[in-house]
Amino acid sequence: MRNHVVIVTGGAAGIGGAITTELASRGAHVLAVDLDAEAGQAIAATDPDRIAFMEGDISKEDVAREAVKMAVDRFGKLTGLVNNAHASRQKPLLDHTAEDWALSFDTGFRGTLNFMKAAHPELLKTKGAIVNFGSGAALNGQPNQAAYAAAKEAIRGLSRVAANEWAEDGIRVNIVCPLALTEGVVKWKEDHPDQYDEVAAKVPLGRLGDPQKDVAPVVAFLLGDDSRYMTGQTVMADGGGTMLR
Ligand SMILES: NC(=O)c1ccc[n+]([C@@H]2O[C@H](COP(=O)([O-])OP(=O)(O)OC[C@H]3O[C@@H](n4cnc5c(N)ncnc54)[C@H](O)[C@@H]3O)[C@@H](O)[C@H]2O)c1
Repeated sequence: MRNHVVIVTGGAAGIGGAITTELASRGAHVLAVDLDAEAGQAIAATDPDRIAFMEGDISKEDVAREAVKMAVDRFGKLTGLVNNAHASRQKPLLDHTAEDWALSFDTGFRGTLNFMKAAHPELLKTKGAIVNFGSGAALNGQPNQAAYAAAKEAIRGLSRVAANEWAEDGIRVNIVCPLALTEGVVKWKEDHPDQYDEVAAKVPLGRLGDPQKDVAPVVAFLLGDDSRYMTGQTVMADGGGTMLR
């Protein structure tokens, strides 16, 4: 990943934190954008030459523009964008409030769209790549995930359109659906133990993934030249939990 400069949203913790660390360890420069300033500063301090941190809410359009500017000012260009951050609340469909829908769509769908638009001019110069995040929960219609699932499928739809429209710009857009044991998933497991057991039992590889070893390398692959003939694809990094055809 030498010569790559990548923005990772939600890049301070969870899967995003693992992506930030893994890309930097492979030689990339990374700007992690996250609400969590403490975690962000801590991750930047692990490799200050390669990892920069910007505190910000990715649902705000000006944060996306500032992040692109900061990545280019600091590291000279932008070659990749990873739209990983997504906040949501889990509850039955009929209990979703307007705020629940807004939280999921503003952070998941709008955050992704804002960063894609802001990054496009720079990715055009470098023939860069975008990795957006979907979810097996959305593909399978997991109960209690209405706002999350709807926003995730909106992200996949947006990604396929961008893959088609921006192919002539040399910009590739792919989607990763991970399954990984992060702090967020541990909390979900506590709140919905039955659903957790159901998910774990259905994973052919028999475990939830490790964010750094099982998910981050797939993202690195989709950002790099080894995937130069792939765009518009949904790639499952989920132990075989969902097998797309
Ligand atoms: N963990 C899984 O197994 C799993 C499964 C399917 C999909 N996903 C998807 O993978 C991605 C990462 O998941 P995760 O489990 O690491 O999530 P997480 O909730 O553990 O971490 C998300 C990070 O995003 C940051 N964040 C949240 N809202 C933000 C905002 N508005 N602005 C900036 N930063 C914000 C948080 O501070 C945190 O550091 C998400 O898109 C998630 O939907 C995860």
